[in-house]
Amino acid sequence: MQGVFITIEGVEGSGKSTQLLRLSEHLRRLGLPVVVSKEPGGTALGRELRRLLLERHDSGETWCSEAELLLFYADRAQHLETVIRPSLAGGKVILVDRFEDSTRAYQGASGVAEATLDRLSELVLRGLRPNLTVLLDMDPEVSLQRVEVRNLALGGEFAETRFDEAELDFHRRVRNRFLVIAQNHPNRVALVPARDPVDQVETAIWVRVAPLLRSAGFGVD
Ligand code: TYD
Repeated sequence: MQGVFITIEGVEGSGKSTQLLRLSEHLRRLGLPVVVSKEPGGTALGRELRRLLLERHDSGETWCSEAELLLFYADRAQHLETVIRPSLAGGKVILVDRFEDSTRAYQGASGVAEATLDRLSELVLRGLRPNLTVLLDMDPEVSLQRVEVRNLALGGEFAETRFDEAELDFHRRVRNRFLVIAQNHPNRVALVPARDPVDQVETAIWVRVAPLLRSAGFGVD
């Protein structure tokens, strides 16, 4: 039996982690074989790359967009080879926090050409696509406020994090790119309004996940 590949996407602060946790717990309670992972950072190599990618601003050097892009794809290549493809071959339900659509949205919004993304995607993914992508959609103005509140609560170095107008504008472009992806792939992408109460968002996700699992032969009732 072939597994099922589900990704969850959205701007920062859209509630991906909470919903991924809830979905994985739900599936485990039903006795399904679940693997939870994320990008960047789903492998040992990926964790090194994640550290580089997310702490890069400390180095003071501006990275060229292709260098950054290739690091995200290096993370993805290793993740596909050692986690995603083996999980699918082993009949698991694999849930991944961010995947290809994040690259399309974020690196696309940073100015990487569509044709470059197409070529790398073909090289690394070799046609593999998620069976379902849950897109948690939210206005970045609201979601980034959530992130600021969370950072303030964490204290220390995070307490200083504030998003300025240029960053807000970047995240608006990211959101719009996610929305275009959803429009272009209506069968794969489930667009879920993320401002609704957490329980309601969870239900909206389940309404899309359950039929997919049933059709793949998993008992979810
Ligand atoms: P992360 O801490 O996982 O953010 P979040 O909790 O919001 O998911 O950080 C991942 C960051 O990397 C996030 O800003 C999105 C970005 N990213 C890309 O720019 N390109 C990609 O291909 C991926 C997977 C993530």
